[in-house]
Amino acid sequence: MGFNDNFLKACMGEKTTPVPVWFMRQAGRYLPEYQEIRGKADFLTMCKTPELAAEVTLQPVDLLGVDAAILFSDILIPLEAMGANLSFVEGKGPVLEPPFRHEDDLKRLHLIEPQKDVSFVLETIKILRRELSEKVPLIGFAGAPFTLATYLVEGGTTKSFVNIKRMLFSAPDTFRKLLDLITEVTISYLSAQIDAGAQAIQLFDTWAGILTRHDFKDAALLYARRIFNALKSKNVPLIYFVFNGGHLLDLIRLSGANVIGLDWRTDIETALKLIGNDVTIQGNLDPCLLFLPEERLRDRISQILYQGYVAKSHIFNLGHGVLPEIPPEKVKLAIDIIHELSR
Ligand code: CP3
Repeated sequence: MGFNDNFLKACMGEKTTPVPVWFMRQAGRYLPEYQEIRGKADFLTMCKTPELAAEVTLQPVDLLGVDAAILFSDILIPLEAMGANLSFVEGKGPVLEPPFRHEDDLKRLHLIEPQKDVSFVLETIKILRRELSEKVPLIGFAGAPFTLATYLVEGGTTKSFVNIKRMLFSAPDTFRKLLDLITEVTISYLSAQIDAGAQAIQLFDTWAGILTRHDFKDAALLYARRIFNALKSKNVPLIYFVFNGGHLLDLIRLSGANVIGLDWRTDIETALKLIGNDVTIQGNLDPCLLFLPEERLRDRISQILYQGYVAKSHIFNLGHGVLPEIPPEKVKLAIDIIHELSR
């Protein structure tokens, strides 16, 4: 078969046939092959064992035929390396205890030396590049500073975001010191991923969509831009995904990313009016549409492909991660339909 570089070409603005596709959370609990490994090791152990992390990264490549692999890890891994206390609690999600609330808490956090503090991530990438050499490119990733700060300050997942917003508005100096530190860590972390072999980078800003346009600029975009600027000279494509960011798209365009990821709420036609036609678009099927029967799924995929064709180039993805409830055969079917309709 040989190496399939449609994903990298599309990142750089080239229209490809077929349109490349990968799915956020393409390795995960919806796959019985993942569950089998997860039955023997907890999630963090999987992330920290390069052979296991590499194996689950490859599962969707071999089982589903996606056009890119994404490193199996988590956005919260570098926070642990910085000194935060991270655990994943069954049925609750990530917990960071004690939460970061005061200037004094900065004393508990430090810069990282990727070769030493997250060597398992770099080792996973090296294994993967060998295994993927005749297959598809490897995407590395990190959480964006605002999103990582939200986990640190809230102590985990939140609905109200009151603690991070309180810090932003009542202790802006502390907020800035924390985000400066996370930004510096993220630059060294992503540089090390690229040096180890990551061929593209996605920055996940899962929670920046809770911000007004005004606050997004100061509290999220500024730091994402700094990261993209620092990585530019590495010459790998940079993807910025802001979940729930429909109201921010013209600002997101200013981040310096080569590719803009869209969630499902804003259709591509509407998004392009804000973004323009000079950047690659990635997205944006609602993951729950994978529950549709085949014929209706085909219609919805075809609509997205038509809209994506107007963009400079298009990488197909979901608007957010694959959910554990989705039948794996539907995920495979969607990928086949995307390839078939765009050929
Ligand atoms: O996309 C991939 O296949 C690569 C691996 C990956 C994971 N998490 C694996 C994972 C990536 C890129 C992430 C990113 C991530 N992690 C984000 C940003 C993307 C998004 O979803 O908006 C966020 C916010 C996290 C934090 C996180 N990790 C949460 C909130 C949870 C718990 C929720 C859940 O689904 O269990 C996780 C755990 C997690 N990360 C799992 C996986 C496969 C499930 C672990 C398990 O129990 O097996």
